[in-house]
Amino acid sequence: MYRSHTCGELRTEQIGSTVTLSGWVQTVRDKGNLIWVDLRDRYGITQIVGESDNATEEVMNSLKELGREFVVQITGTVSQRSAANPNIPTGEIEVKAEKVEVLNASKTPPFTIEDDTDGGEELRAQYRYLDLRRNPVQDKLRLRNKVALETRKYLDSQDFLDVETPVLIKSTPEGARDFVVPSRMNGGQFYALPQSPQTFKQLLMVSGFDRYYQIVKCFRDEDLRADRQPEFTQIDCEMAFVEQEDVLTTFEGMIKHLFREVRNVELDETFPRLTYAEAMERFGSDKPDMRFGLEFVNLNSVAQGKGFSIFDSAEVVLAINAEQCAVYTRKQLDKLTEWVKRPQIGAKGLVYVKCNEDGTFKSSVDKFYSQEDLKEWAEAANAQPGDLLLVLSGELDKTRKQMNELRLHMGDELGLRNPNEFKPLWVLDFPLLEWDEESERYHAMHHPFTSPKPEDHHLIDTEPGKVRANAYDLAMNGVELGGGSIRIHDRELQSRMFDLLGFTKEEAEAQFGFLMSAFEYGAPPHGGLAFGLDRLVATMGGSESIRDYIAFPKNNSGRDVMIDAPSPLDKEQLNELGINLQPKAVTE
Ligand code: AMO
Repeated sequence: MYRSHTCGELRTEQIGSTVTLSGWVQTVRDKGNLIWVDLRDRYGITQIVGESDNATEEVMNSLKELGREFVVQITGTVSQRSAANPNIPTGEIEVKAEKVEVLNASKTPPFTIEDDTDGGEELRAQYRYLDLRRNPVQDKLRLRNKVALETRKYLDSQDFLDVETPVLIKSTPEGARDFVVPSRMNGGQFYALPQSPQTFKQLLMVSGFDRYYQIVKCFRDEDLRADRQPEFTQIDCEMAFVEQEDVLTTFEGMIKHLFREVRNVELDETFPRLTYAEAMERFGSDKPDMRFGLEFVNLNSVAQGKGFSIFDSAEVVLAINAEQCAVYTRKQLDKLTEWVKRPQIGAKGLVYVKCNEDGTFKSSVDKFYSQEDLKEWAEAANAQPGDLLLVLSGELDKTRKQMNELRLHMGDELGLRNPNEFKPLWVLDFPLLEWDEESERYHAMHHPFTSPKPEDHHLIDTEPGKVRANAYDLAMNGVELGGGSIRIHDRELQSRMFDLLGFTKEEAEAQFGFLMSAFEYGAPPHGGLAFGLDRLVATMGGSESIRDYIAFPKNNSGRDVMIDAPSPLDKEQLNELGINLQPKAVTE
C-alpha cells in the first residue's frame, strides 16, 4: 500500500491517526532540529514535520536529504498545527513523520513547479510533463474534463449516440490543407486525416442513427494562431429530421447546461441572433464580441462631398464612438494611429474627432470640416460631450476588417472585455459561397454540403454570390465556438453545388461519389454542427489561447518540442513506402 490518504484529504478529524502519504516534495525547510516538507499530489499539499525530539535520527536524516520533486512515501501521525494555514484545505493539520522512504529521487527541475513559475515558454514546452505538475495547468485540464463529461451527459440525455468514425480517410476539400498518411499496402496512395468527420456523420444519418455525437480529434494543416492548433478536438453532432430552429434550440440548451454545471453561470435564456449581413455591418466581424458596444456608424452621408478627397473617394467612412475618451492625449492618439497602420491591420491612417465638454469639436480634419459638419458626425454617432470618434475609411470589406480590429483593441484598452462575462451570439444566414480572387472561383464558405436557403434557390444560376446558406455559427466573446448547417440531402442539388464550386462531374464523382450514392437510398433531411472543444474550454476559462487547455499542444510552427515531432524518416521506412524526397524538402 503506497498511501492511506491523498495529500489533499486530511483534516482535524483525523488528528491522532497514523497515515501514509505518497507524493512529490514541493519544498523542504530545514531548521536543524525541525524540518518541514510540503508534500504534493494532484489533490493538494500536506505539511510533513520532523522534530528531533520525537523522530528518530534516521527519519531526520532522510528528511534532510530530500530534494525538490523527489517522490516519497511518508508514514506518521496526524496532529494539530500550531500555526494554521488558512489558504489550504489541509492547513489545520500536519503529519509528524515516523518513516520516510524515497520512492524515486529527482534531478533539480529546470524551472520551479509553482503556480508562478520562472520557466520560459520554450523550456516549459520541452518539459511539458513537469509543467503539467503545476496547479494552474492542472486546473485547466480539470476544467476540460468537466466540460467533456457534462457534454456527454447532456447529449446522452437528448438521445445522441456516440459513434466513432475513421481517422484514416480520403482527402476532402473543407477549406484547409489535409495532413496525409502514406499507405504501405497501397503503394503511391495516401490517406488523409479528417479535417472533421463531416461526411461520415451525414452517412450515419442516412443509416438511421437519428442523433450522433463524437468528441473527436480533427486535423488541419493551416497557419496557427492563439485559437488554432493543427490537431484540435470537436464536439461533433448531427441530427436527422431537423430544421435550423431544432438545431439551435438543442445546442443553446447544451451551452447553457455546460455554463450552469461547470461555471455556475446562467446564460441568457435565449441567445441573441444576428444575420451575417447585420453582424458585418454593425461589427465588421462574423463573431462579434457582444460584451461591449462600440458599434460601427456609417458616416458616408455626412462626411463625403466636403472636399476631403480621402473620404470622398472611399467606398465607406466608418466611425466608432469611444465614450468618455475625448481626454485622450495627442500621444495616445498618435499611438492609436500607429497601431492601425501596422501591417497586420493595414489602415492608411486614423481620423479622430474629440467632442469637447463645451460642445465644440477638435478633429484631425479640421481643415476640411466645419464645427457644423462635425456636429452632424457626432449626431450620427450619438456622441455626447466628452466622447471620441475614431474614423476609418476605404474599401468596404477592408475597412470593416480594420475597424473590427480597432473596436476589439479599444475594448481591451477600455477594459470592456471582462473574462468572467459570457455573451453568446448566433450568427445566421451566412453566404453560401465566397469568391476567391486567387483561384478565380467560388469556394464554399462553410463546406460543400451546406444547403442554400430555399428562398434563395432562384439565385443559384444567376447570382450565386448572393445565395444565403442555412448555416449558423455560435460566437462568444469574439470567438467562433462552433458552426454548422442544414445539409443538402438530395443528389441533384449536391451535384449542382459541386458544379458551382468548379468540380468537373468526374472530380465530384471521384471525391464524393459515395455520399451522392448514399443520397439515392433514402437520405433523411438532416443538419448539425460542431463546437471546438478547445476554444469552448478556453473561453470558459477566460482565456483566448487554447494551448494551455491541451495537455500536449504544438507550438506555432506545428512542432511538439518535447517529443521532437515532426522528424525525418529513415531511408528504409521511406523505401518501404516508395517515397523519394526531393532535395529541397530535405534541406528545408
Ligand atoms: P468548422 O470548420 O467551422 O466546421 O469547425 C467547427 C469548430 O471547430 C473549431 N476549430 C478549431 N479549433 C482549434 N483549432 C483549429 N485549427 C480549428 N478549426 C476549427 C472552431 C469551429 O467553430 N464539419 C463542420 C461542422 C458542421 O458543419 O457540422 C466543421 O468542421 O471552434
